[in-house]
Amino acid sequence: MVEYPKGSNMPRKKPSLLSICVVLLCANVTAQSPAQDQAARGEKLYLSQCSFCHGQTGEGGRGSPLNRPRLRHAPDDEALLRVIRRGIADTAMPSSWMTENEAQLVAAHIRKLGRVSTIATPGNPPKGEQLFRSTGGCTRCHAVQGSGGAFGPDLTTIGERRSSTHLRESLVNPNADISSGYFEIRATTKEGRAIEGVRVNEDTFSIQLRDAGDKLHSLWKADLKSLDKNLKNSLMPSYGKSFTPAELDDLVAYLAKLTEDSSR
Ligand code: HEC
Ligand code: HEC
Repeated sequence: MVEYPKGSNMPRKKPSLLSICVVLLCANVTAQSPAQDQAARGEKLYLSQCSFCHGQTGEGGRGSPLNRPRLRHAPDDEALLRVIRRGIADTAMPSSWMTENEAQLVAAHIRKLGRVSTIATPGNPPKGEQLFRSTGGCTRCHAVQGSGGAFGPDLTTIGERRSSTHLRESLVNPNADISSGYFEIRATTKEGRAIEGVRVNEDTFSIQLRDAGDKLHSLWKADLKSLDKNLKNSLMPSYGKSFTPAELDDLVAYLAKLTEDSSR
């Protein structure tokens, strides 16, 4: 028999309420395949609290796309949990009332969404790159790794920011979803000169526009007759008719491969 020194509370220690609960909980969870059950709970939480802004499959919407392997604000799991629970200051990303455990389930679901980029795309990336650099004339407006125009968004890491479906849509129907900040601006001076382009900079008194020829225009607002922002019209031409479906596949396959890893 073990002798306990006088005053020790060891022999009197009863199983605490907490440990009983833990045992019961574990028994309950193991009874219904823990991994699947956890995944289903993570998905349910995601669909009810996050998909409104981030899309059913993380394709993005009002919130950023989450269906990519690397997230700017959440490079590791710890940061991801922090973003989920505390939100991102000064953005539309709200904090949540989730418990640590719920946040972990949602985080696991987001990491699962992030693996979509491994889905094979049908096209041929080297052929797509050729189209991008030659016939397509894409480099006139887009830069990849520092070379190319600045009229359209930089595409160096577009493969991890957009799904293949979205990329194809961008080429065929650019008006469907205009990249933030790249909507059309049309300025008309008092002398009647019209300038169309994307905004580079703007303050109370002036606006700087870049036209499709990559030329910068700095305009005083006082000199303008009108200044219109057209949020619905993309300045990206549609390529739905100029490429065959196979060529579009090649282009999408090339764009999908443009990630931070490929630019290293
Ligand atoms: C009201 C809309 C809204 C809701 C609801 C919302 N988010 Fe967000 N979320 C955003 C916006 C907007 C951003 C981008 C913030 C920024 O960087 O400008 C964002 C960013 C994020 C990021 C960082 C992405 C990156 O690329 O770094 C993660 C992760 C994220 N949200 C997860 C979630 C999760 C999980 C939920 C549900 C619990 C959720 N969000 C609910 C709007 C929302
Ligand atoms: C005349 C200039 C111009 C040319 C040429 C052009 N684009 Fe664009 N592109 C833009 C502008 C401006 C935007 C931003 C507006 C938008 O999202 O529709 C854009 C957007 C995009 C996007 C979406 C980016 C995002 O963040 O979602 C992709 C992808 C793209 N272009 C690919 C291409 C490819 C591939 C080609 C060649 C086949 C091409 N572009 C040719 C101007 C151009």
